[in-house]
Amino acid sequence: MIIPTYNEAENIASAVARVREAVPRADVLVADDNSPDGTGKLADELAAGDDRVHVLHRRGKEGLGAAYLAGFRWGIERGYGVLVEMDADGSHQPEELPRLLTALKGADLVLGSRWVPGGRVVNWPRHRELLSRGGSTYSRMLLGVPIRDLTGGFRAFRAETLQGLGLDDVASQGYCFQVDLARRAVEAGFHVVEVPITFVERELGDSKMNRDIVVEALWRVTAWGVGGRAGRLLGRGTAGR
Ligand code: GDD
Ligand code: MN
Repeated sequence: MIIPTYNEAENIASAVARVREAVPRADVLVADDNSPDGTGKLADELAAGDDRVHVLHRRGKEGLGAAYLAGFRWGIERGYGVLVEMDADGSHQPEELPRLLTALKGADLVLGSRWVPGGRVVNWPRHRELLSRGGSTYSRMLLGVPIRDLTGGFRAFRAETLQGLGLDDVASQGYCFQVDLARRAVEAGFHVVEVPITFVERELGDSKMNRDIVVEALWRVTAWGVGGRAGRLLGRGTAGR
């Protein structure tokens, strides 16, 4: 379980405790970007008391994508067979993780999904729901990827799937990282399954979503879409990176 953190001091202990309780066999890696609020130190304290908790200290805030890439490398190097993404802020329910892992038995990648029947969001402001639904719809149509929730951050990957995605040339930094990995998985021919989840808006701390993240997502998704179409016209198989 890789949990990226930036200023999640109020949330990290409960996130780790809930994962350890819900899936005791899972190891947890907190990937912290040198949070000014001391999240990294709190994570170290949790790790000191539990062999299954680990911390990856990163230099500074480099975005969700970079933190996950470092976390995936850490896990793959150590031979983990399944790697899971989860937010630290309580939005993803570790208690739903066993359902994702069960689905992974018949899939290469399982996406926790808010926008399939049975999925829902709790306490999200209307503008965030519109942004998320709109972002998924835009990406789905432009990229031709048949997935309802392309931006979600509660996912279970087989290690072999990650190794087949060309992680070394992923440039996405912000939340479009999630779209990037999902489209790569579909394009590589992996079996991707969406499982409904309940997303609960955080009660403590602040979202790191900002204008730069939206702008990066918009231009990258548009570039992938245009590049993919041009590539198909020219008879190339896959979309541009
Ligand atoms: N290490 C690190 N570095 N962690 C980060 C960074 C970063 O630069 N930016 C965000 N995070 C961590 C947060 O600390 C949190 O654990 C998680 O990533 C998600 O960040 P939030 O800021 O809580 O995201 P959100 O709730 O606004 O966004 C949700 O919707 C997005 C769009 O659908 C999440 O579900 C995202 O995963 C999703 O992409
Ligand atoms: Mn959040």
